[in-house]
Amino acid sequence: MRLRSIELALPDPAAAAAFMTGIWGMAEAGEQGGTRYLRGSGPFPYLVALEPSESEFVRTTTFVCDAADLAALSARVSEAGWTAAPVTSSDPGGGHGLLVELPEGVLLRFLVDAAEVAPIAGKDLPVKLTHVVFNAADAEGCGDAVEQVLGFRVSDRTKGMVFVRCNDSHHSTAFARAGFTSLNHVAFEMEDIDAVMRGIGRLRDHAQVPAWGPGRHGPGANVYAYYIAPFGPVIEFSTAVEKVAEDYRVGAPDDWTWPEGRIDQWGMSDKDFEGLRRAEERFRFRRDWEPAPLGA
Ligand SMILES: [Fe+2]
Repeated sequence: MRLRSIELALPDPAAAAAFMTGIWGMAEAGEQGGTRYLRGSGPFPYLVALEPSESEFVRTTTFVCDAADLAALSARVSEAGWTAAPVTSSDPGGGHGLLVELPEGVLLRFLVDAAEVAPIAGKDLPVKLTHVVFNAADAEGCGDAVEQVLGFRVSDRTKGMVFVRCNDSHHSTAFARAGFTSLNHVAFEMEDIDAVMRGIGRLRDHAQVPAWGPGRHGPGANVYAYYIAPFGPVIEFSTAVEKVAEDYRVGAPDDWTWPEGRIDQWGMSDKDFEGLRRAEERFRFRRDWEPAPLGA
């Protein structure tokens, strides 16, 4: 199972695409019916879709898997009685699979037979998405639900989050203990720490400073720099997320405490708590499809 892409709807996709290509550092991956697609250097045809809409919301977060995984997933989702429907993707790469609504309304899409493309070498692009984090009213409940029904695994619990993996990367998603449901942030995997630093420099050229970072997290041990995108959401340059084994010991909040005045391993950056919190509330979820039985 791999995290592939996020599909956002918002009033001005052109402005968002201009920022994400011209400043953040992504490449154009085509346009279809007004929806702009942006890619990284890796084999996924796109990482971010920007669809025109009067209001801003998250349409889906997309994972790709194989047919056996999808069949098992469909069976468990049906058995759990979750809101779901079969889907055929018209986004670049195509593919088919299922749409799933998590108990709090987060919308995930799982695809098989989605085509990949030739990687791009020699350009300073993000490689892929490394995680998409959601705010939750009941983060523990969400973590339990995706473990039981989607077959994901909780990697760590902190005072703020429940970190969840769907492969050997420490987390591909997480649920923040926010008290409401929304998109928390989208993290882009950079080639290495230098690529993260060059990204920070690129944004500095455009008078943009990190809302938090650079720093190195506790759980997952990834390097990060968070920004509030001009079109709304919190986005992150990230690299070096820890790979974990099957028997990884699930950490508890007491395992992840910091000395007074610290909230990361390096302790070199302030955090704009208020600005981040406001941005993390903006993108909610909107289901505009009806549940339907999942085929065998
Ligand atoms: Fe993150």
